[in-house]
Amino acid sequence: MAKDSTKNTSCGDGEVCDPSKRDFMVLAANGLGVVGACTVAWPLIDSMNPSQDVLAQSSVEVDISSVQPGQQKKAMWRGKPIFVYRRTPQQIADANKVDVASLRDPQTDKERTKPNHEEWLVVVGVCTHLGCIPIVGEGEFGGWFCPCHGSQYDIAGRIRKGPAPQNLVVPPYEFINDKTIRIG
Ligand code: FES
Repeated sequence: MAKDSTKNTSCGDGEVCDPSKRDFMVLAANGLGVVGACTVAWPLIDSMNPSQDVLAQSSVEVDISSVQPGQQKKAMWRGKPIFVYRRTPQQIADANKVDVASLRDPQTDKERTKPNHEEWLVVVGVCTHLGCIPIVGEGEFGGWFCPCHGSQYDIAGRIRKGPAPQNLVVPPYEFINDKTIRIG
């Protein structure tokens, strides 16, 4: 004979309960579990949102009005050094003479600068090998030399020699006017 599922059944410990009540208890328990998970997860998610301090550093404005051709200015952005280098016409010409196909990380000078602002090179000042800070004006290529393991970058920040796998990174930036750039 088929069992009548609407009849009371055992809930354990000898207690008899109504199946519809039991289903309700299971749903309620699951619901509480979800609420509990949300209660635990929300502070966690909320804590992962950037703080006001971090948001304030998400972009930084740099006054470049005093930088002369052949000079570099350093700034900090998101905890990293940024090199803002003002190049001479000769340095720009040298950067454009390079056979791009011969480069380890092929990029033209134009791809690494802003139109009508080619005299400015803006890069993250962190060697792409293991993260040391390269030194400006040293090495064989007129750009930067990394003292840690000898990587050399040219005046467009492109890797030319040594173990670094990639060019110095160009961060997102824009010219607010001729005297100020905003990084980030
Ligand atoms: S960290 Fe720059 S060459 Fe190794």
